[in-house]
Amino acid sequence: MTEPAISVSNLVRTFGKTRALDGLSLDVQPGEVRGFLGPNGSGKSTTIRILLGVLRQEKGETRVLGMDPWADSVRIHRRISYVAGETALWPSLTGGETIDILTRHHRSPHERGRRDELIDKFELDPTKKTRAYSKGNRQKVALIAALASDAELLLLDEPTAGLDPLMEAIFMDEVRALKAQGRTVLLSSHILAEVERLCDSVTIIRAGREVQSGPLEELRHLTRSTVTATVRKDPSHLRANREVHDLHVDGPRITFVIDDAAVGSILSTLSALDVVNVRISPPSLEEMFLRHYGDVVEDER
Ligand SMILES: Nc1ncnc2c1ncn2[C@@H]1O[C@H](COP(=O)(O)OP(=O)(O)O)[C@@H](O)[C@H]1O
Ligand SMILES: [Mg+2]
Repeated sequence: MTEPAISVSNLVRTFGKTRALDGLSLDVQPGEVRGFLGPNGSGKSTTIRILLGVLRQEKGETRVLGMDPWADSVRIHRRISYVAGETALWPSLTGGETIDILTRHHRSPHERGRRDELIDKFELDPTKKTRAYSKGNRQKVALIAALASDAELLLLDEPTAGLDPLMEAIFMDEVRALKAQGRTVLLSSHILAEVERLCDSVTIIRAGREVQSGPLEELRHLTRSTVTATVRKDPSHLRANREVHDLHVDGPRITFVIDDAAVGSILSTLSALDVVNVRISPPSLEEMFLRHYGDVVEDER
């Protein structure tokens, strides 16, 4: 078996009374694009900072590309790149200068070419001082630097925070291209849609611990959508439909919850009810967590 790109076991890290990581384990194989999901405060950034060798765990073991990030951070940093959602830049440097500093470990001719290509794609003006940039533009600087490198492992911590939808689409194209080249990506996010479109598998954490991990298809049962519709015919027989959960009927307006796999068959059921309008909204990650883990968290308190 090949060595995992990331191998973390039983990490514990506290900040005062806060247990940011409470026995977290995570394995990512080379070439995998792994979503790293969890509500705010669940320990995603703490994990990534330990992988970077910026923070040290109190208990447990961490290997990145087979090395210990605390002891080997210089060697590791030549082979990884990193983006944080909250990007702090040097205010008096220009965007172009900042990209050059962030990519100082990665200066092959190919990487220079990629830098210029990405500056074009993301429509960044690299001559402006970074203090003049919007949050979105600061984010582009960090992304360009990370995506331009030939690094084999990318650690992306909520990388699209502050990007507009057009730029987010470009980011997703770029990550897909890296994936096709066999690079490894750990993508922390609280945007389920982004993770669904990019990742093969996901790890969901809560309170510093893994709650689910696996290929996206296997976690499908976690994703249910809410259907809101107005119908002209009597919807009461929906109660007997086993795909329909939590049905509420309020005159002609109905709402219920379905597994995403049932969307197709529900649409034909609804059209038989002479539907006037329908809206199907996917769950936010928060809803997903509340539905599936709310009780677990209550028990722990
Ligand atoms: N440097 C720090 N000092 C004190 N508390 C921290 C520090 N970093 C993280 N924490 C706490 O640890 C927990 C996990 O934070 P974090 O890893 O940033 O979560 P996430 O990235 O999932 O939002 C939170 O309760 C946070 O407040
Ligand atoms: Mg974070």
